[in-house]
Amino acid sequence: RTKLAILISGRGSNMQALIEACAQPGFPAEIALVVSNRPDAGGLDRAKAAGLPTAVVDHAGYETREAFEAVLTDLIEAAGAQLVCLAGFMRLLTADFVNHWRDRLINIHPSLLPAFPGLHTHERAIEAGVKLHGCTVHFVRAEMDNGPIIGQAAVPVLPGDTPDTLGARVLAAEHQLYPACVKLVASGKARVRGDVVKTDAKVDGLLINP
Ligand code: GAR
Repeated sequence: RTKLAILISGRGSNMQALIEACAQPGFPAEIALVVSNRPDAGGLDRAKAAGLPTAVVDHAGYETREAFEAVLTDLIEAAGAQLVCLAGFMRLLTADFVNHWRDRLINIHPSLLPAFPGLHTHERAIEAGVKLHGCTVHFVRAEMDNGPIIGQAAVPVLPGDTPDTLGARVLAAEHQLYPACVKLVASGKARVRGDVVKTDAKVDGLLINP
């Protein structure tokens, strides 16, 4: 089974979805470590409740991004993790870190990339009047919210949606999409070829109804 390190900054609901997937018999991955850059992240309690090893690397305690990331890399390597999953990890990572973990570092983003990189994606989707929104799991490259797409899940934008109602619909889709994509990568069914992911699996595009 592929060993995962999960990096979080907050409540950890995507991490929780991965914990539940890894508990299923036959799932091709297991969680070796959960790391938070925030000591107060709610996800840490959820990880501990699941009996997982956790660590806090508080970015505020480091002079430079490089020093912070060196500790992250040491911990991830010491845990023997082969795949690093960003799950609501809200620190930008340097090109050196991203290149060190090239094709072994994946992220979930709450929009259908390349639309709406960055923050406040649900608000921006409503303002733009798009009729489909969703989430993306992708291999991480040095440019923010960019990299070979492993899978996407789309949800409708409904009349009267607020950023909260739309965000909740997208979050439910995230909880389906992230485990599906980790499964593809961990089982070797999704591989990077140049700048795209090749897979013949059926789950790389999900349409999820409200
Ligand atoms: C998720 O919606 C995730 O897609 C988003 O933060 C939320 C974390 O929730 N990530 C980003 O915006 C990354 N830039 P969670 O802690 O409950 O998984």
